[in-house]
Amino acid sequence: MKYEKSGEGYCLGIESTADDFSVGIADFEGKILANVISAYIPPEGGIHPREAARHHAEVASKVLEEAFKKAGIKPKNLSVIAFAQGPGLGPCLRTGATVARALASYLGVPLVGVNHCVAHIEIGKLKTGAKDPVTLYVSGGNTIVAAFDSGRYRVFGETLDIALGNCLDVFAREAGLRQKAGAPLGAIVEKLALKGEKFIQLPYTVKGMDISFSGLLTATISLLKKGEYSLEDLCYSLQETAFSMVTEVTERALAHTEKKEVLLTGGVAANKRLQEMVKSIAEEHDAVFCVVPSEFAVDNGAMVAWTGVLAFTHGLVTPVDKSFVRLKWRLDEVEVPWVK
Ligand code: ATP
Ligand code: FE2
Repeated sequence: MKYEKSGEGYCLGIESTADDFSVGIADFEGKILANVISAYIPPEGGIHPREAARHHAEVASKVLEEAFKKAGIKPKNLSVIAFAQGPGLGPCLRTGATVARALASYLGVPLVGVNHCVAHIEIGKLKTGAKDPVTLYVSGGNTIVAAFDSGRYRVFGETLDIALGNCLDVFAREAGLRQKAGAPLGAIVEKLALKGEKFIQLPYTVKGMDISFSGLLTATISLLKKGEYSLEDLCYSLQETAFSMVTEVTERALAHTEKKEVLLTGGVAANKRLQEMVKSIAEEHDAVFCVVPSEFAVDNGAMVAWTGVLAFTHGLVTPVDKSFVRLKWRLDEVEVPWVK
């Protein structure tokens, strides 16, 4: 069905912080009209930023075209262009920013640089109806427990080294597992973990409100190489240990803030076992458990488009000369005037 133009306007959002290039289109009321994602899958090993950026440049026009087709609107109907300005990988971010600047200046519409972490939270709120949650944001590059306070999303706890998704991905690669289209490595670990039966004791590291995964990863890989345990048992034990760590910190943030909702967002939010654990602590604290739908859990343009709408309708725009990418832009540096 073709969507009737509301008269308010549309925002196109470009996401290119890491291995996905994605374009989303949102209207000003929060209806997502399109969310087209093209994932870069490296032939082997981890993501090479320049190779991923090359992929983004190659697919950009095709992804844009498909998004307009899905949304049933024309470029001239757009009122604003948003792009993920950071944090992320330099070459990948710059490719998305270049496309965004070119589109905005060609169409003569404003540009809005969006923080990728804020976008993961905002799409979670939009899609679940959460208003003021404690958020557990877990992905390939981030592991953050955050909640809104006095104008910003404050970080209550975070990883001191690698991110949860990265921990699962590196382990999976060491085990010789290969990512396939539509099956991220974390999802393959999840499937194997379901067949695990024996819990193997692994390093559990929570320091204050922060978490460390590197010791856990090293220990699990070294057990894998010894060959004493099955891959299924290792996946199961790795998940149980890592997920308990993030759940513990989330629970403490919930107890401290006394918020009434818990939101699980980011790529790893698709994991059913993690959902189960976070749900159980939410229930213990009489809080509502909310989880972002999986289409919006992984990196996507829709979250950037929607955060662009929120920023733009609250007077925030990014002039082209201030649109340089911000590789290490922290969540708690961002003013979010749309949250009260
Ligand atoms: P960010 O820039 O926010 O850190 P990202 O580039 O890592 O994001 P996301 O799409 O948010 O991208 O998250 C990808 C991560 O999610 C990968 O580590 C992937 O293995 C993990 N993941 C996806 N599905 C699952 C799942 N079912 N279980 C566990 N992990 C998953
Ligand atoms: Fe992400």
